[in-house]
Amino acid sequence: MHQTTEQSPTAQLIDMMDGCLIAQLIHLAAELGLADLVEDGPRSVEELGAATGNDTEALYRALRALASKGVFTETVPRTFGLTPLAAPLLTRAPHSVRQLATIRGSRAHWSSWTELRHSVRTGQSVFRHLYGTDFWTYLASEPDEASLFNSAMGDEAERLHTAAADAYDLTGARRLVDVGGGCGDLAVTFLERYPEMMAVIFDRPQAIAEAEDRLSGSDVRDRMELVAGDFLTSVPRGGDVYVLSRILHDWDDANSSAILANVSEAMAPEAKVMVVDAVVPNGDAPHPAKVMDIIMLALHEGKERTEAEFARLFATAGLRHTTTRHTALPISVVVAEADARKCQDSSTTRGVRTNAVASATARGNTVSTSRIGR
Ligand SMILES: C[S@@+](CC[C@H](N)C(=O)[O-])C[C@H]1O[C@@H](n2cnc3c(N)ncnc32)[C@H](O)[C@@H]1O
Repeated sequence: MHQTTEQSPTAQLIDMMDGCLIAQLIHLAAELGLADLVEDGPRSVEELGAATGNDTEALYRALRALASKGVFTETVPRTFGLTPLAAPLLTRAPHSVRQLATIRGSRAHWSSWTELRHSVRTGQSVFRHLYGTDFWTYLASEPDEASLFNSAMGDEAERLHTAAADAYDLTGARRLVDVGGGCGDLAVTFLERYPEMMAVIFDRPQAIAEAEDRLSGSDVRDRMELVAGDFLTSVPRGGDVYVLSRILHDWDDANSSAILANVSEAMAPEAKVMVVDAVVPNGDAPHPAKVMDIIMLALHEGKERTEAEFARLFATAGLRHTTTRHTALPISVVVAEADARKCQDSSTTRGVRTNAVASATARGNTVSTSRIGR
């Protein structure tokens, strides 16, 4: 495999620059399902070209470049097989990244990296600059891409959600509200652990419609309520735990503060807020969140945050940071509860809609299926 450890700084930088092409080749392999095609043993480029409808020579060159990085291997000339690095591209791999690689290299994502200069100059998203709308509104008009996005979130989710659930004990919690809960994967993880718990999955109407389909066979479906709405307007009331998993990093501080203010307004005084996101370490320490942060900037105007930034954000919404639990993965659980001082003045949020306005719009969300209490 290609080694970078003994390269000159110039060679290392060039290698990093070439990384964008490797990323696109990984995307291509994912989209074509190349790993699945060689799952049962190596196959020639002629077979792979015929199976995928591609130019044999060009496909050979793409696979040769990937194999030079350890993704697939040329077992005999012009015949390629799986490697440990190619295995996660299998659809059926335990922690498959096939759909993640497909969405990461898609036109909507990829074009956002091409004009990072816009984000760095303005602090705004490249996506909005190019598409004239935000990513979520775009997804609402692209159902296939939305479905792919939801699946890709699911690809990553299992490991991250298990790590988050391991990190913070919710024994005793009765009603969990998963704010922006997507297809309900995290809620399922919690419900399987806590037999007394009910969960509300709250997301955009399109995501809830998909969740209805995906969860229909789940063993814990009878303890779930699926609610469609907009967390910038309000969130369901009455939870004793509000989970925001990979939500706040999609949003800038003003919108994140608005979301948290809506949670703060909806929750009981003793409820917990559990933010599941990366926590960015200070200084030069390498951490995947430092690159993810740039994805968030270009795609959403979002950001990854340090622990101090989370604490400040909570404070703008009348919440108080209580603890942070790190996991072995690049994901942490940052916990907050109602700030006692806030209870004396429920209009403390700065620069965001007040709780009174959020409360007035609280009835705008739609309960699509109510099963709690059956
Ligand atoms: C990055 S995904 C995270 C999904 C899930 N929490 C997880 O950890 O896998 C962000 C979620 O926020 C949802 N979302 C975005 N804007 C929303 C809004 N205004 N109201 C409710 N949900 C929203 C998306 O539909 C998506 O499911």
